[in-house]
Amino acid sequence: TLTIQADKPAHPVSPMLYGLMTEEINYSYDGGLYAEMVRNRTFHHDWSGMQHWIVDNAGDSAATIKMVAGDGPSEALLDSMRVDITTATDAAPAGVRNDGWWGMALKPDTTYEGSFYARGDLGSVTVSLVNNTTGRVVATTTVDGITGDWKQHTFSLKTARIEASANNHLLLSFKKPGSVMFQLVSLFPPTYKNRANGNRTDLMEMMAGMHPKFLRLPGGNYLEGDTVEERFDWKATLGPLADRPGHRSPWNYPSTDGMGLLEFLEWTEDLNIEPVLAVYAGYSLKGTHIAAGAHMQPFVDDALDEIEFTMGSADTKWGAVRAKLGHPQPFPLHYVEIGNEDNLDHSGSYEERWPQFAKAIHDKYPNLKLIATAPVKRGLQPDLIDDHYYKRAEEFYTMTDHYDHVPRTGPKIFVGEWATREGSPTTDLGAALADAAWMTGMERNSDLIEMSAYAPLFVNVNPGGMQWESDLIGYDAAKSYGSPSYYAQSMFAQYLGTEVSQTQLTGGVHTRFFTSVTRDPAKGEIYVKLVNGSTDPQPLDVKVEGAAVTGPAAVITLKGDARTATNSIDDPTRIVPQTSRLRTSAGIHHTVPPLSVQVLVLTAK
Ligand code: AHR
Repeated sequence: TLTIQADKPAHPVSPMLYGLMTEEINYSYDGGLYAEMVRNRTFHHDWSGMQHWIVDNAGDSAATIKMVAGDGPSEALLDSMRVDITTATDAAPAGVRNDGWWGMALKPDTTYEGSFYARGDLGSVTVSLVNNTTGRVVATTTVDGITGDWKQHTFSLKTARIEASANNHLLLSFKKPGSVMFQLVSLFPPTYKNRANGNRTDLMEMMAGMHPKFLRLPGGNYLEGDTVEERFDWKATLGPLADRPGHRSPWNYPSTDGMGLLEFLEWTEDLNIEPVLAVYAGYSLKGTHIAAGAHMQPFVDDALDEIEFTMGSADTKWGAVRAKLGHPQPFPLHYVEIGNEDNLDHSGSYEERWPQFAKAIHDKYPNLKLIATAPVKRGLQPDLIDDHYYKRAEEFYTMTDHYDHVPRTGPKIFVGEWATREGSPTTDLGAALADAAWMTGMERNSDLIEMSAYAPLFVNVNPGGMQWESDLIGYDAAKSYGSPSYYAQSMFAQYLGTEVSQTQLTGGVHTRFFTSVTRDPAKGEIYVKLVNGSTDPQPLDVKVEGAAVTGPAAVITLKGDARTATNSIDDPTRIVPQTSRLRTSAGIHHTVPPLSVQVLVLTAK
């Protein structure tokens, strides 16, 4: 029997409990959320050179491509692609194609907005979208006005009644001999809320479905970079795309920085959530750290500027920069994280770095909550500590009570990265069950655990798309799906009450059986979360004291027939929540199915 003392709450639930954490890993932005369709749009020859650009000459036409250094439309983009066409006619044009991020996803009756910088003696270029298999041109247009001076040209490509697929490429074609240079060749589909330089609609909708309260950005390891030079240098991610040089990410592929700081912040705005801003704190992954003191001061100033860019009014220096970029309204910022996983800096330098950052930020912004990434003895005490847990299912089952025993006298906890690492590329039902068990512990301890975020959030499931196994949401260029863990998260966050109810669980209970009960008195609802990680059904009577339950309960169930059962890009909805009803008039007698996560929504006044 599960007895719920509805009128005796143990403590409030942290309203910030569930959020998102992302970084550039597994092609999360380029090749993922960031909707750019052209791969290697800026020809960074020190990373991937001409990769994904392929000469595609029709008939007897002839053209070659090569990188030209020191010639581009901006200081940031000085290495360009030169196309030399020796033979080409209207009937047999020469061409160069881009194969996209494992293809280019096209839909019927849709307009794609493109642009490129070019200079040359050709006058015009034909731009087309072409089906890889049939060679059929599904959209085409001509860009005129190409001269000897670098200039940006824009174009639109509209598809007709085609079949939706990712099996397409972009073709630039040339109908006469000559030479032309290209830089920043770009193509976007319609984006979420129609933002220019925006995000994929399907992935934004999937995140909205998780009912998050915040986004921790920009990482993760991506904040730190392998070296100081490869950190997320936010100032180099602002403004026109032609002014963004991009940088190498620690997950071994280049980042265009099309997803720059302002785009991250607009992402939070579009989901109506708040940013949790992680500032670079002078430590990079290969072990270098900046010595605290005078050497560190420019990095501290940079963090202060970044905070001002985020939350300062348009009258401040960096708030004015944000306003000039089109966003006069400050973003709501309440949490700043100093560094990432500084517990891995075995030199112990965080003990010196933290006080310098924390004092400077606190002096200027005393109301911000500061998050440390390791326990600290010196300087200001952090408001929160960011704890990370990547575990196997059996480990999580044994540690759901971990925070029950942590004293409430120190900083609050941000479980800033956690996941059950089982299943690939996305997690399976067995992982989702252990995730749910762990979440019951987080909810029960949400007087201490103020926030949490699963990681990693995204994975591009194409071969070569994954650097880290066991992720939450998978996708290719055209489609996306949620893992069973995604649905467990969504259920827990959707039915989050405002107070944790006191409960007692008595009688015969299987191992791997976990509960969490929260209540929202204003809504008149009690949420009973039940996790049965065993292969046996779990009979359960639910007794509510201190409130009258009325009407049938809604029962939301996520279950499957094996721990390895999962969703995939080709079978995206095998394990998804189903809703049923449960009578409550003669008492709540219920059986929790094997291998299941359930939420009972009780109407109780
Ligand atoms: O989420 C993957 C990585 O795990 C993050 O980049 C890092 O913070 C952690 O070690």
